Amino acid sequence: MSLPAMQITPSVLNANFAELGAEIARIPSADMVHVDVMDGHFVPNLTIGLPVVESIRKATDKLLDIHLMIEDPDRWAPDYAAAGADSVTFHVEAARAPIRLARELRKLGARASMALKPATPIDGFADMLTEVDMVLLMTVEPGFGGQSFLDLVLPKIRRTRELVRRTGAQILVQVDGGVSVDTIGRAAEAGADVFVAGSAVYRADDPDAMVNELRDAAVKGCQH
Ligand code: DX5
Ligand code: ZN
Repeated sequence: MSLPAMQITPSVLNANFAELGAEIARIPSADMVHVDVMDGHFVPNLTIGLPVVESIRKATDKLLDIHLMIEDPDRWAPDYAAAGADSVTFHVEAARAPIRLARELRKLGARASMALKPATPIDGFADMLTEVDMVLLMTVEPGFGGQSFLDLVLPKIRRTRELVRRTGAQILVQVDGGVSVDTIGRAAEAGADVFVAGSAVYRADDPDAMVNELRDAAVKGCQH
């Protein structure tokens, strides 16, 4: 699977949930589609689950990037991989056996990804970086779209990029939360290469044009 250096993965959290297939068709330039699964326990919000992801899988050929904000991902995450998700992200704060889980996801043919909330340090997970294909660094407290980007995560993005570089492996660094044309450059400059954007894309008059604008801004940011 070859992908461009700077990837934009719009979140459908701010899209019209009654028309998800049509909403995804509005963003052909997206590199992946980010789907936020929330269980009302790990985060104080409830969105969608496996049956809806299975329906989305049938409605689009785009790569599906599933972000699980749920308790007990050890039990549930493999089902999303089996449902045809291309990438499955679990939170390290919720996983009981993250290495076993990452291996299971890869065995099922998905990319494995681990997510960290803003206050969770990366250093304790440095030794397991090569077990995953992507690290998701939350740049807001998970649970809701439309929050402000937390600049305090920038040093962790830098640190994660450095730890990834030392492994010599191809591991993506994704940021999620408050990403817009105003903030994406800072995240890219710090070392992120995959950007989730929810409200910035779906509140734009032309969501697909915004995807391309965001990608351009990310490329510019990392040239600084
Ligand atoms: C928040 C979700 C995000 C959310 C981002 O917990 O994980 O993916 O959709 O929305 P924005 O881009 O509006 O911050
Ligand atoms: Zn997300």
